[in-house]
Amino acid sequence: MLCVEDDPAMGALLVKELGRRGFGVRHVRSANDALAAVEVEDYDAVVSDVRLGGMTGLELCERLVARRPELPVILITAFGDLDTAIAAIRAGAHDFLPKPFELEELAIRVTRAAELRALRAEVRRLREGIVTPAGIEEMIGEHATMQRVVAMIQRVASSEAPVLIAGETGTGKELVARALHARSPRAAGPFVAVNCAALPEALLESELFGHTKGAFTDARAPRAGLFVEASGGTLFLDEIAEMPLALQAKLLRALQEHTVRPVGSDREVAFDARIVSATHRDLESRVADGEFRDDLYYRLNVLQVRLPALRERGSDVLLIANHALKRIAQRSGKPVRGIAPEAARKLLAYDWPGNVRELMNAMERAVALAEYDDVTVADLPEKIQAFTRSHVLVAADDPNELLPLDEIERRYILRVIEAVGGNRTRAAEILKVDRKTLYTKLKSYGWRPSDPPLGAPPT
Ligand SMILES: Nc1ncnc2c1ncn2[C@@H]1O[C@H](COP(=O)(O)OP(=O)(O)OP(=O)(O)O)[C@@H](O)[C@H]1O
Ligand SMILES: [Mg+2]
Repeated sequence: MLCVEDDPAMGALLVKELGRRGFGVRHVRSANDALAAVEVEDYDAVVSDVRLGGMTGLELCERLVARRPELPVILITAFGDLDTAIAAIRAGAHDFLPKPFELEELAIRVTRAAELRALRAEVRRLREGIVTPAGIEEMIGEHATMQRVVAMIQRVASSEAPVLIAGETGTGKELVARALHARSPRAAGPFVAVNCAALPEALLESELFGHTKGAFTDARAPRAGLFVEASGGTLFLDEIAEMPLALQAKLLRALQEHTVRPVGSDREVAFDARIVSATHRDLESRVADGEFRDDLYYRLNVLQVRLPALRERGSDVLLIANHALKRIAQRSGKPVRGIAPEAARKLLAYDWPGNVRELMNAMERAVALAEYDDVTVADLPEKIQAFTRSHVLVAADDPNELLPLDEIERRYILRVIEAVGGNRTRAAEILKVDRKTLYTKLKSYGWRPSDPPLGAPPT
């Protein structure tokens, strides 16, 4: 547990006395230190004095509840101060304890709070395990590149073999993982997701593989770990490239033996979960750089689903945008019906580095700003409004802004098509390729002869 107390003597006393009663206690002296501490470590409960130098315990409580809703906070209030006690509960405190208090009383309340926390975590896991029956239906896309993805999902869903989902950030990797689960024979089992980049190594290890009672401070009860909890279902290892090398070895062993060894234990525990992993990084180059084990890479990558970037999905951009718009408009009760042609053109021209997630955010904002029936250019983020064909060839020195050859080709071809007003024969002459090649490329970009010229100046 975490103890927030600005008086060092009182803090030391709490650490000692609660420690004697079997609690692992970390003491910090300010609200800011407490907020920083919960970012890096998982606590069963927080005990804080209301009166702290700087931010008060009440404010701290509010912020903790907002960030970590399942983390119970116990506030220590002054004796007889009913107003503060009420304020504490309003601020989302799980419990309050008037001064002076018996340490035994505090210990009992902390235990109760920790039990509540375990229960909340369980409920959250159960809830995450419920996959909306929509599954793959939520994935919108008609472009050939997406049709291939859907076909691939259907083909591999029923297999038990590990699947690696690759694709840029925001392309829908988690959506695919859920769709794979929902269409698998394990659909009735849990879907357990863990983000390998979000936790420090030691915590990730005990989350994944479990731990015995007393394996480390705070490990007051044994835990099975996510491999075991996902048994009968799917374990989704998100951001797998970020897994530290030491854990990669342990993961490889788990995949080979179908057992895990909890931290602090010398016993192997069997699990039965299907492994789906995802990354937005180029795992092969990480293997080449020695940052990712090649044997693990081959294990995880038995089957692969590669998601295309949104800019490679042609007019799917508008399909997804319209779908999102209808849903957002309905939810917010705003009578926005569609996208004005000029705004649609901007959406098609933009290169979407944040992919579908960026598009979703843009639509959310656009609906909020819209003053008419249709979303107009003015409702789009500045970045999208300002994106013009001058971005075709990048004048950048920053390696992060440089583009792959395919993308340069795509942009240049669209630029030429635009310059000749959509005349494909003329464009093919300029590009010195045959018309059929040009047509195939244009089709793969989602361009249709009826489409407006891309990036045309506003009318
Ligand atoms: N084809 C699609 N149709 C409709 N919505 C989609 C589609 N693909 C993704 N989305 C939505 O876009 C958002 C981002 O998707 P998701 O979280 O699955 O991406 P991700 O690849 O896991 O991203 P990151 O790499 O950032 O974790 C989600 O809200 C998701 O529902
Ligand atoms: Mg994701």
